[in-house]
This record gives sequence, structure tokens and C-alpha cells, in this order.
Amino acid sequence: MQTSRTENVAAAPEPAYQTGFGSEFASEALPGALPAGRNSPQRCPYGLYNEQLSGSAFTAPRHANRRTWLYRIRPAAVHGPFAPLAHAAFAPASDDVPVPPSQLRWDPLPLPEAPADFVDGLVSYGGNGSPQLQTGCGIHLYAANRSMRDRYFYDADGELLIVPQQGRLLLATELGRLLVEPQQVAVIPRGLRLRVELPDGSARGYVCENFGVPFKLPDLGPIGSNGLANPRDFQAPVAAYEDREAPGELVAKFLGRLWAAPLAHSPLDVVAWHGNDVPYRYDLRRFNTIGSISYDHPDPSIFLVLHSASDTAGVSNVDFVIFPPRWLAGENTFRPPWFHRNIASEFMGLIHGAYDAKAAGFLPGGASLHNCMSGHGPDGRSFERASHADTTKPERVADTMAFMFETRTIIRPTRQALESPLLQRDYWRCWQDLKKNFDPSRP
Ligand SMILES: [Fe+2]
Repeated sequence: MQTSRTENVAAAPEPAYQTGFGSEFASEALPGALPAGRNSPQRCPYGLYNEQLSGSAFTAPRHANRRTWLYRIRPAAVHGPFAPLAHAAFAPASDDVPVPPSQLRWDPLPLPEAPADFVDGLVSYGGNGSPQLQTGCGIHLYAANRSMRDRYFYDADGELLIVPQQGRLLLATELGRLLVEPQQVAVIPRGLRLRVELPDGSARGYVCENFGVPFKLPDLGPIGSNGLANPRDFQAPVAAYEDREAPGELVAKFLGRLWAAPLAHSPLDVVAWHGNDVPYRYDLRRFNTIGSISYDHPDPSIFLVLHSASDTAGVSNVDFVIFPPRWLAGENTFRPPWFHRNIASEFMGLIHGAYDAKAAGFLPGGASLHNCMSGHGPDGRSFERASHADTTKPERVADTMAFMFETRTIIRPTRQALESPLLQRDYWRCWQDLKKNFDPSRP
């Protein structure tokens, strides 16, 4: 079959961006493509179709209302019928798998041996809530070794928070292109179509599929008007369309399952757009990390990057938290994260370096899960070292970037995660060498 391909996207590796978080953005790849003064003129410029993508209820309060107007070559409705798409590893956690209260940890996910694109390479580790009820999240890793080719993906179940660990991703979306490297993250709104390309040939990372309300920046309370992730460091794309006729496939994640429909053109054909329901990227190295300058370690909520609220004030649906390089200055303080049991459930990954609460075993590309009320904290070696460290001097935690998807209800691991050869079945041992130091004669 003959195909024609014209693209307005230059070969430059770094796309252009607009800055801000939750802003009203506007972008056009052809002059005058964005209608002025109205959203729905009788005839759109350049023979484009207009289409609204809504990311909130129409009647949501203004601060929570999200929608984007698209001006595109063909409407999103132009595709063939959907049929189920088999995928053994990208599947929701099943209710019939008993969930152990054990601490769980996995070795790094290996790169695939057979050809696998981003969608092929998704492996579900767990989740909670329900896409149907629009609460909770799905937690996945990906390991891929080729770009998506004439294949496009959207997720109707949730917003995608993508956390690269190895290899860059070029996210070609309907609204334009985002390039993300390890220690940067990207968020793709619910329903937005994209193609994932691998500029480095292979890639690995983590995905949080947020079934709840979209991520926002947390309120800062007494921290003030600046700090943590600053809005000016978030970047949205500029319009970059493809006018491309070629047989392809549209993959949808819908109510926990994958579906595929035939396409005869690229759906990344949006020539102009305006709105606030947009994909964005953020560099975690820009995070303004805040901690104690007197004593004790604050709760890890001080490291909150993005927050998806629940219906209960102050309780998250899911939070994205990082543990970046930082100075520890607490005097007479046990400086690593303390031993704890939380009502929230914690899925952690390591993007770069080492994590300060574990001497070994938690590796980049690996993962851990500490569910509701499962006791955990530093391992024996980390406890001994921190208990005898000199706390009269500040100490820098360098060369690290760990993160946590923290969520209000128990994370149900998938059967494949519980049965995986990557599961460290001796993880529990890391706390068994914590000595009994108690001596009632020595206060
Ligand atoms: Fe924890």
C-alpha cells in the first residue's frame, strides 16, 4: 500500500515547550489555525474539525475544571471497530489472589529479549480501587526495546504518570511532543492518544495509572507561596501534527482490559489546540526539597510532588513522592526514615543511585511494596550506621532518586508479581539482624 507522510516536526531531539502548571495554554502549528473568539466556528480554518476533550465534569468548580479544544485533520471518532487485544502482563490485579501482609520487594525488571514496544512491555505489579468508580490506581513497570510504529495508545481508565528509569522516551501526543529522560517524569491526561518512541533504543521505568481526579500540586500551608515542585518548572508541549495516511492500530485501555481498532491515518493530527487538560513533563532535579534544620525527620509528605485528592479532605487517592538528594542536618536525630507502619500503602521504585534506608537489595528498576500496617524501615546495617553517626555536622545524601506511589487503600499485587522470579523471597530477613539493645539498667 502506498503511504504518504508529511510532518511539520523538525528532527531536533528536544521539542519546544510552554511552561506552567494547570495553565490555560494555546498553541498552533499553522498560523491562524486556532479560531479567535469562539471555540466552534461554522467552518474551522484550514478545513480542520474541532473537538473538545474534557478531563472533568462539565460542571466541576472552575479551579478543578479541565478541558481542551482540539482543531484536527480528522475527529477522534474516525477508526474501525475495537476488538479485544491479548496482553498477558498488562492486566488488573484480580480479586481472587490473596494479598499477603508481607513486605514485598522485587529485583529489577529485565529488558525484553523479543521485540516489545511501550505497550507490549507493560507489566502490571498491582493496584487498588476501580476504573469504573474512578478511584485508586494501577501500578505497572515497562521494559521496551523498540518504538511504537503506526501504533497509538490511550487510557480511558486513568491519567498516566510515567517515571522513566533507564532510556529516554519521546512521547508523541495529540497535543505535541514531550521528551523525558530518567529523573524527569511525564503525565498524560486520561484519554489522550500518544505514540511512545525510544530515542535510545531501549527503555525501562514505572507507570502510575491514576483512576481518580487528576494530579495537582499540593497546597503548601505554612511553607508559603514557593517550594516543593514549583509551577514554572512544569512544561507542556506545543502543537505538532502529523498528516499521515498509513494503516495503523489504536490501542485503548478501557475498564481494565486492552482493545485494538484499525486506523488508516495518524491520530496525532491536531494542528492547533487551547485548554488546560494537557500532558506535561517535570524534572525531579528541580524539586525544592525541604527538611528539618533542628531535629527529627518530617513526615514524608514533605517530599510530595503531585497529589490526586480523594473525596475526603487531606486524604489522597494517590500521591507521588520523591526522595531526592538532600542535606540532613537534624541534631541528635536518627536521620534516615524511621521505622513505621502507615494506614496508607506504599509502592516504591528507585530511579537512580541508592536509597538511604537500605544498604542493599533495592536497586534501580526494582520495586518494593509495603502495604497498610506492614512494619518496615531501615535494615540492620543502615540502623547501626545511622545510630552512631556524628549528627553535629550536616550530611549530604547524594546520588539518589527514589520515589513512592502512596495510596489510601491496600495495593493488591497481581498474581504475576507475587509469582514472579524477581520477587525477593528473603526480603523479610533484612530486619532480622536488628539486635536487641534493651538494657533496663542503662537509661
Ligand atoms: Fe514506608
